[in-house]
Amino acid sequence: MSRLVMVSNRVTLPRNDGQAAGGLAVALEEALQQHQGLWFGWSGTVLDEGEPSLHEQRRGKVRYAVLDLPRDLFEAYYNGYANRSLWPLFHFRTDLVVYDRNFEAGYLAINRLFGERLAPLLNTDDLIWVHDYQLIPLGRYLRGLGCSQRMGFFLHIPFPSPSVLTTLPGHADLVQSLFAYDLIGVQTEADRRALREYVVHEIGGYCCDDEWLYAFGRSVRVEVFPVGIDVEDFAHLAGTITARDYERRLRSSLVGRELIVGVDRLDYSKGLPQRFAAFERLLERHPEHLGGVSFLQIAPSSREDVPEYNDIRNTLETLAGHINGRFADFDWAPIRYLNRALSRVALAGFYRCARIGLVTPLRDGMNLVAKEYIAAQDPDNPGVLVLSRFAGAAEQLDAALIVNPYDADAVAEAIHTGLQMRVHERRERWNTLMAALRDYDTRRWRESFVEILEASQESPLQEAEI
Ligand code: ADP
Ligand code: F6P
Repeated sequence: MSRLVMVSNRVTLPRNDGQAAGGLAVALEEALQQHQGLWFGWSGTVLDEGEPSLHEQRRGKVRYAVLDLPRDLFEAYYNGYANRSLWPLFHFRTDLVVYDRNFEAGYLAINRLFGERLAPLLNTDDLIWVHDYQLIPLGRYLRGLGCSQRMGFFLHIPFPSPSVLTTLPGHADLVQSLFAYDLIGVQTEADRRALREYVVHEIGGYCCDDEWLYAFGRSVRVEVFPVGIDVEDFAHLAGTITARDYERRLRSSLVGRELIVGVDRLDYSKGLPQRFAAFERLLERHPEHLGGVSFLQIAPSSREDVPEYNDIRNTLETLAGHINGRFADFDWAPIRYLNRALSRVALAGFYRCARIGLVTPLRDGMNLVAKEYIAAQDPDNPGVLVLSRFAGAAEQLDAALIVNPYDADAVAEAIHTGLQMRVHERRERWNTLMAALRDYDTRRWRESFVEILEASQESPLQEAEI
């Protein structure tokens, strides 16, 4: 079995208290344990002076190698190109894209640095798995350094439509970098279609059997791998005494009212102002819910050094104040807004307490909260998932109430429908949703990616045919 080398911007280092980090990080670490792997990435430290040094540690069969990054380059790479250019662009927010040549230069410099520091750690038959938009050019730098190992790339966020992508100066160069890999993984069919359309119509490349793309003198396989969760593990967590205790405490504070829950990083892609407006619309259109329903939104701050993230924070605080000011009574506030992260077990208890899971991003690669909400439900009395059609998860979870998050009236009506829904229909929908989650969980996601990468070979599309 080849060694697996995982590369990501953030690396989840083993915790000193022996506790697991949870979620995707655990799944990736399991894969590394199986493959006696190496996890390489940023150490989390930014240096004001001195040479960036590599720190290494081991847990079980996994080796971790993490790199400090120089402040000026990090600012341009992470707070600049990755999160002010690519993130808004790939989430279809061309209005928020800030393009600056210095950002791009920093992004390329950090990718080059990653390549230079990683290459000496590689063995000839390693499998290399690079994660996400921060590291698109890494494969190309590694190839330039003579690395001929099998290399795969997984994009955790959406792939934008060609008309959006072409607004980025240097878009063709960015896409050309993807062709250094042997395998590109995306979350949804829609993402694969967008990449294919770009390559065929913008670059003049070719597509074969849906999954092979040929351009820039190279072929690459593109596959859909929808990220999942560890369903049984999350369901179990929601049933533990600690989770039930959180559930009980929250329920007693509701004094018989129904709960709507939203859990997201504070990010403009999550559609939080639109969600608050839809909740306000529910109270306007259906006054029978006044005093009868509470909306708990948990949204910890994220990427606080990026200005656009502070704007969204201010907007939400104003909106929550406005809605509470308009509708609250002396013994009821419609919105409870928590601007902080909670433990996974607390979230599991809160999901289980909620009649409605409200997941309405304007764009999202997948959205794991939607999946966690389903897994945490009580099978006898499950809640209802209201899910944006623009979350990658909607391709699999079509038994949820699917909504357009821009349409406040439609979202309000879906919440109302969910609140009225009989237990028989709720169970039927929940069973279908659970079957979809079990069918493609985290294990299947990572094993399929590694298997296809391991088997990657020459494309069926030979140059002679073109
Ligand atoms: P993204 O990767 O864009 O943040 P996802 O929904 O795919 O969005 O994943 C978010 C992950 O972070 C989930 O596992 C979720 O449980 C966790 N998370 C989100 N909000 C919170 C919070 N307030 N406290 C703790 N964990 C959170
Ligand atoms: O969903 C994309 C993603 O980059 C995740 O991989 C990550 O957990 C999340 O967004 C938060 O990003 P950051 O590492 O920038 O805080």
